[in-house]
Amino acid sequence: MRIFLLGYMGCGKSTKAKHLANRLDCTAIDLDAEIVDKSGKTIAEYFEAFGEDGFRQYESEMLRTFNYPSRCVIATGGGLPCFFDNMDWMNLNGVTVYLKMEPEALVSRLHNRQKRPLIKDLNDDELLDFIKIKLQEREPFYTKAKIIVNAFDLDAEKLEEALKTVI
Ligand code: S3P
Repeated sequence: MRIFLLGYMGCGKSTKAKHLANRLDCTAIDLDAEIVDKSGKTIAEYFEAFGEDGFRQYESEMLRTFNYPSRCVIATGGGLPCFFDNMDWMNLNGVTVYLKMEPEALVSRLHNRQKRPLIKDLNDDELLDFIKIKLQEREPFYTKAKIIVNAFDLDAEKLEEALKTVI
């Protein structure tokens, strides 16, 4: 089974993918890290070179062409579910889990912003407003996930429990 973790930047997708994969004894995959690996550019450099449109094309291509093992947990980039028909593709090809978190909690977790081009120049107040607006745009996509969990205080055990409701 392929489990796609999705949600806003800072909600903990990459860490939780590793913990859950550990618990399920399967592979953790981080699609942003795969983009960095394959392109030889950091995400910030990729945005710089090809713009956001170029990045969205590439991340969608990566999502569709990656050679997933049959059992794995995949951390997706925060914007990935909201472009093209990526959300539908993930729902057809695995179990999608939205790690939902309040904007205030996200701000407090997003300290290292330099590697995230969309928010790198924002202070805490600007970031909070930005996240509130972005979440409104993105929630219609995120909430197409098969499972929605509160990501605050979430551990791999609770995540596994939530998965049992659909598998
Ligand atoms: C983005 C989230 C980032 C990365 C890129 C764009 C977004 O991934 O894909 O900076 O649009 O929300 P993380 O959610 O892993 O930070």
